[in-house]
Amino acid sequence: MRNRRLGTSLLLAALVAVVTVLVATRGGEADDTPNADPKKTAAFMRAKLASSQKVLEGLVSKDFDLIASGSKELEQMSDAAAFQRFPDPVYRHYSREFRRLAGKLNRLAVDRNLEGASFTYMHATTTCISCHEYVRDVIKVADAAADGGEIETASDRR
Ligand code: HEC
Repeated sequence: MRNRRLGTSLLLAALVAVVTVLVATRGGEADDTPNADPKKTAAFMRAKLASSQKVLEGLVSKDFDLIASGSKELEQMSDAAAFQRFPDPVYRHYSREFRRLAGKLNRLAVDRNLEGASFTYMHATTTCISCHEYVRDVIKVADAAADGGEIETASDRR
């Protein structure tokens, strides 16, 4: 009987520890889990932001080399495993579309076509925003529902 009580307390303690870790990592405060998948994606996405800023800088200063190297980085990044985060057909569509646009942007930069590159850059940026919206409002909401949690809609967060 005593052993069983001890077992239950240990189990409870373990559960509290797990929940604490989960809450801490979900809160986005604990950045000390470098190998966790979402963190890898975050670091990766930050790098993507830097490359896309490089392209923008190239566009505004008509520096085709800068546009070409930034878009090449974007194209190569979209092949990385960290980008294929969800085995979901819509997510995959966004990620493929993004890769296609990055490649097109690179060719337009090599052709020194500023207008085409500007248009394609804007189109690619729209894909960044659309994919993020999908992840936030569809995938994350579905995850919350599957976990039996409260479904938080986009408007709750505004
Ligand atoms: C195919 C989908 C997809 C596309 C396209 C995409 N992202 Fe992301 N992005 C993600 C995912 C998934 C995350 C992680 C979201 C999460 O787990 O909360 C993310 C997160 C981010 C973050 C936040 C990282 C952090 O610090 O938490 C930044 C910045 C970012 N992306 C920039 C970009 C930029 C800039 C582009 C376009 C040049 C882009 N993303 C295109 C899927 C995408």
